[in-house]
Amino acid sequence: MESIEKKKRIVSLIQPTGVFTLGNYLGALKRFVELQDEYECVYGLADLHAITVRQEAAAFRKTILSSYALMLAIGIDPQKSLFFIQSQVPEHSQMAWVLNCYTQFGELSRMTQFKDKSAAHTDNVNAGLFTYPSLMAADILLYNAEYVPVGHDQKQHIELTRNIAERFNATYSPTFVVPEPLIAAKGSRIKSLQNPTKKMSKSDENVNAFVSLLDSPDDIMRKFKRAVTDSEAKVYCAEGKDGINNLMEIYSLMTGLDFAAIEKEFEGKGYGDFKVAVGESVVEKLRPIQENYKKLLADKAYLEDCFSKSAPEASSIARKTLSKVMKKVGFLPKK
Ligand code: TYM
Repeated sequence: MESIEKKKRIVSLIQPTGVFTLGNYLGALKRFVELQDEYECVYGLADLHAITVRQEAAAFRKTILSSYALMLAIGIDPQKSLFFIQSQVPEHSQMAWVLNCYTQFGELSRMTQFKDKSAAHTDNVNAGLFTYPSLMAADILLYNAEYVPVGHDQKQHIELTRNIAERFNATYSPTFVVPEPLIAAKGSRIKSLQNPTKKMSKSDENVNAFVSLLDSPDDIMRKFKRAVTDSEAKVYCAEGKDGINNLMEIYSLMTGLDFAAIEKEFEGKGYGDFKVAVGESVVEKLRPIQENYKKLLADKAYLEDCFSKSAPEASSIARKTLSKVMKKVGFLPKK
């Protein structure tokens, strides 16, 4: 990783559960790549977070490796950024325990993600699902990051992270950098293609609701052609036109065109033409990513080399913060 002192540090992780969606791409992954020159970037695969929902071991192992390959294929550059696998950096779990003791039950009870996930998995409302935000706070605070690039759905978790950091700093002395979320104006709330008032999510039961980054061109086109819109048949952004607003946002991020240019391009045309154009723009953007992904996934030795180098590097940064924290809390230093 390049270490130019004056660059600010950002940190962000993503859960390796299933294949990343277009929402993950536009809200987080695409930005991770773009931010690599301006910031010192610390990225990770949050596999510890993923077991808050039951995973089948063999499939999970495969998904972790394929998610690692997919992030490299998108453009995370191990020469520029630190990119590790969370479970291989033990300081995350250690720090999470300490932070759990500085996080209130009431605060965790208010997390909307906990409420949603516990409602969706009533047979497995485990303690990890509840304390998940303290682990996320550990992920961030260990690296003294100033910014955390995320989609809008993670804002509440970052606010809690800030509260935990401020509480610890006030109880002892300034220890943690209090981070700020970096949420883009466009792309941070990509909606379901079937219900555009809901966020696009890989756990949606309806596969037509989300585009996965490894979907075939035919599947992508089918999903966009079936996208729910409205009955007006005029392409422009307005309140209440949730389906069209979402498609315009996706098209804008894919092509670089602003909304005015998109309205102009589709003046006098129906939704059919627009949906085809959006689908094609996504197919073209994903084509080289999918080709890269296939090559990388076939080179297991390279992948292993990348994550086995990054874990100790992440540990050495994280250990410093953890040691400081342990000392302030009053634990005896290891001799
Ligand atoms: P996760 O794995 O659900 O999602 C990863 C990133 O993708 C963003 N995202 C979206 N952005 C726009 N539109 C959508 N429809 C959409 N769906 C997902 C998320 O906001 C996120 O940025 N708890 C986190 C993972 C995590 C983390 C961290 C993030 C663990 N430790 C430390 C930042 C810092 C999560 O479950 O994201």
